Amino acid sequence: MATLTLASPLTLPCGAVLKNRFGKAPLTEGLADELNRATARHEALYGRWAQGGAGLVVTGNVQVDRRYLERPGNVVIDGNGGFEELKAYAKAGTQNGTHLFMQINHPGRQTPRRICEEPIAPSAVKLRNLPETAFAPPRAMTANEVEDVIFRFVNVAVVAREAGFTGVQIHAAHGYLISQFLTPLVNQRTDQWGGSLENRARLLLTIVREMRQAVGPDFPISVKLNSSDFQQGGFSNADCLQVVRWLEEAGLDLLEISGGNYEEPSMMGSKTSEGAAVADSTVRREAYFMDYAEQIRTVSKVPLMVTGGFRSRAAMEAALASGALDVIGLGRPMCVETDLPARILAGGDGTAWEKSIKPAKAGLAWFCLALIAHGDGKTPNTSLTGPEAIELYLKNEEATAVKLRDRAA
Ligand SMILES: Cc1cc2nc3c(=O)[nH]c(=O)nc-3n(C[C@H](O)[C@H](O)[C@H](O)COP(=O)(O)O)c2cc1C
Repeated sequence: MATLTLASPLTLPCGAVLKNRFGKAPLTEGLADELNRATARHEALYGRWAQGGAGLVVTGNVQVDRRYLERPGNVVIDGNGGFEELKAYAKAGTQNGTHLFMQINHPGRQTPRRICEEPIAPSAVKLRNLPETAFAPPRAMTANEVEDVIFRFVNVAVVAREAGFTGVQIHAAHGYLISQFLTPLVNQRTDQWGGSLENRARLLLTIVREMRQAVGPDFPISVKLNSSDFQQGGFSNADCLQVVRWLEEAGLDLLEISGGNYEEPSMMGSKTSEGAAVADSTVRREAYFMDYAEQIRTVSKVPLMVTGGFRSRAAMEAALASGALDVIGLGRPMCVETDLPARILAGGDGTAWEKSIKPAKAGLAWFCLALIAHGDGKTPNTSLTGPEAIELYLKNEEATAVKLRDRAA
């Protein structure tokens, strides 16, 4: 048998083939227009990623309902036009034999107040430790609204396929709506959507099954799932392992593992096991969810992408050789160096560009601005400081939000 390398192709259960083991992780772009349609800036950014050598590129989260956005510049697919723009976006992002999966999301209670004064959630449980000026307390969804969300996720997958995206990813991680249903801390429902793990996972599993019916057997369906929420009484690692078993039975093609939410942002590397600080083995292996990947391997054969922390070819090769994962997920490094996979595959220096942004809370703003630079056909300004990034980012978000409000008025 040939040795497995980062250049080895991967065949997914549905038959689709990724040309290598690099997966550009989903990264919110904020590049949509005032009608939340894709733009030429998506084409520019995804063209760069497609030329950059990754076998798989997952888009930033695309929303199913314009009333509830993760941020003002999200792409939305909810029956309000924008199909030609999506086609152009898909065309740019699938050049060079690249698979382009659309990440589909509903933010639920993590919808910023500037977008919505009354977001929805499984139950009326507000975000802890985050100001109410930023996130309004949510109301509990009706049963009809839960059914509506299922319909919307399935519809977006069908549109994605028709527009030329080569797969989809359901966002069930990071504290967004599906993740809110999975955790008993936010899901206190007493109907079929709450209570036991089976009930809490019903929304995710129903979406996967109905989506499969709608898109057919040969179209990749992926899920991004938390290995744990890292919160006492929340979605635990044991819960995750059971949900993975069910997802595999439902015909999943690729599972991306992450962790945390807005209250506990472990996806950026602050925690490695339920509540513990970063362990030595994690520093060595770089990727902070590797222990969880190993556990998932013991319960499931579903192809696995692990995202968070990978920075060097040595750690990536070791992770792949260990058999614990199938795809190396790369987020922040791809914000600056869109062609990192090609560079690593070509030999030579195998370390990703990295910058520690200070203060840490400026990180997201800094990397978001890098994506906007690519969308504008420019090179990211790597000398930007954290405070400068926050100021520029907030200005950009407010300007985009004002355009949305003007349009809606
Ligand atoms: C600017 C930025 C935007 C992000 N947007 C998303 C997103 O839309 N969907 C998602 O699932 N994760 C998102 N993430 C999380 C990344 O996919 C990834 O899990 C995280 O950055 C850790 O991987 P890394 O260490 O390679 O950066 C985002 C991260 C950053 C830095």
